[in-house]
Amino acid sequence: MLRFVSPALRLTHLAAALMLATPLLATTAQAAPAAATAQSQTWITLGEQAFGLLRKIDPDVRSEAQREWVMQTPKPGSHSAALQESRELVHVVHIDNALLPALSEAIHTDTHRCAGFVAHASRAEAFSALNGQQEAQSLARKVVVPSYTIDNQDQVAPMITQVQDSQILSTIQTLSDFQNRYYTSTYGVAASDKIMAMWKALAGTRSDITVEQFTHAGWPQKSVILTIKGTAKPKEIVVMGAHLDSIVSGKVTNETRAPGADDDASGIATLTEVLRVMVANNYKPRRTIQFMGYAAEEEGLLGSAEIAKAYKRQLKKVVGVLQLDMTNYQGSAKDIYIYTDYTNGAQNTFLANLASTYLPTLTVGYDKCGYGCSDHASWYGKGYAASLPFEAAFTDDNPYIHSANDTLANMGNQASDAAKFAKLTLAFGVELGTDGPTVKP
Ligand code: BES
Ligand code: ZN
Repeated sequence: MLRFVSPALRLTHLAAALMLATPLLATTAQAAPAAATAQSQTWITLGEQAFGLLRKIDPDVRSEAQREWVMQTPKPGSHSAALQESRELVHVVHIDNALLPALSEAIHTDTHRCAGFVAHASRAEAFSALNGQQEAQSLARKVVVPSYTIDNQDQVAPMITQVQDSQILSTIQTLSDFQNRYYTSTYGVAASDKIMAMWKALAGTRSDITVEQFTHAGWPQKSVILTIKGTAKPKEIVVMGAHLDSIVSGKVTNETRAPGADDDASGIATLTEVLRVMVANNYKPRRTIQFMGYAAEEEGLLGSAEIAKAYKRQLKKVVGVLQLDMTNYQGSAKDIYIYTDYTNGAQNTFLANLASTYLPTLTVGYDKCGYGCSDHASWYGKGYAASLPFEAAFTDDNPYIHSANDTLANMGNQASDAAKFAKLTLAFGVELGTDGPTVKP
């Protein structure tokens, strides 16, 4: 499902590995290990079960490092939001590209439970992915863990009723009317300015709300950050974000059409509606809430990576992060899918509980991308609790993304799906923003 978007893409995936491997396969079925060059091998991480399959294909493969990951996965056969903790030994392997198709085949045919593998651009990236969980755990000891109590019904319930599809629809229209929102294009720069202007207009005259752009050194498109300063614990921050850039597959010029209506005008529009409702209710959070529109997500999570890195360096206490990336296309039977990889299990459970408390008619499922598919992974990589509620199961997502056809028309000119995410995001923002007693781990 990884879409190849740019040479700058940092994360590679199964498809990347297969693309690399294909020419080799055409000439030699079994590449001799001695003939392997740097380009003919790939660093991958994979779970114990997939590693076993790989050893059956080539008994000589060695695991360069292993680490036990603790993950939250849905309970088998459960139709509820229940999660269970699972542990898996994850390996780093430097593998001949020629073996990748056979590995992929084995993973698909041998078992449905097997998690597959992730390819990395370098040894360093493979090790950093392996250790990401450890980093997450060590930082978790320093950061604030919220209680995840749901006790602000009086505030949340009336706000949820005020979410308007028409507002979301009009913001998606405004953003997808830009020729593109590419990270280096003049339109991409203008779209960031437009989002700042929209958010400033919504903030009105409130002195506790500021809107700023975060400048990135390597490209012209800026991220946008709106801050509602907390009244009681201003140093504790709740982040709710979406990416403001868009892309299409293949070569992109300044004039390329890339509407990105679902990916990810829908996420920015969802956030914008949450902001509108919070301000309309004069909501003053006890913790600080930040709305973020990230630049350059499609280039490899570039904008959010810089922001998360800066926050960690400044030891900012980010209590929780919610990523909205594609909220307006119902590709699967359920309304909302909570993605379980590169995310925080406790916060995911909280999200599911928010849905069952405030939106009992919505159905919730679980899935995963299998790689760091959006900006939540930048925060996760820096040890912060992140979640990704998504529009569909991974293989059922909007088929038009990354093309000129990712338009409102191809989502039925409606925003009722994104409205569900706006309601959930309001519940998340107000329950975490108002806070219960803080639990120190
Ligand atoms: N919105 C997508 C992520 C996505 C697509 C999630 C389909 C689930 C299903 C995001 O903007 C994106 O395109 N991500 C890239 C990877 C990123 C590191 C550049 C992708 O998935 O190819
Ligand atoms: Zn995308």
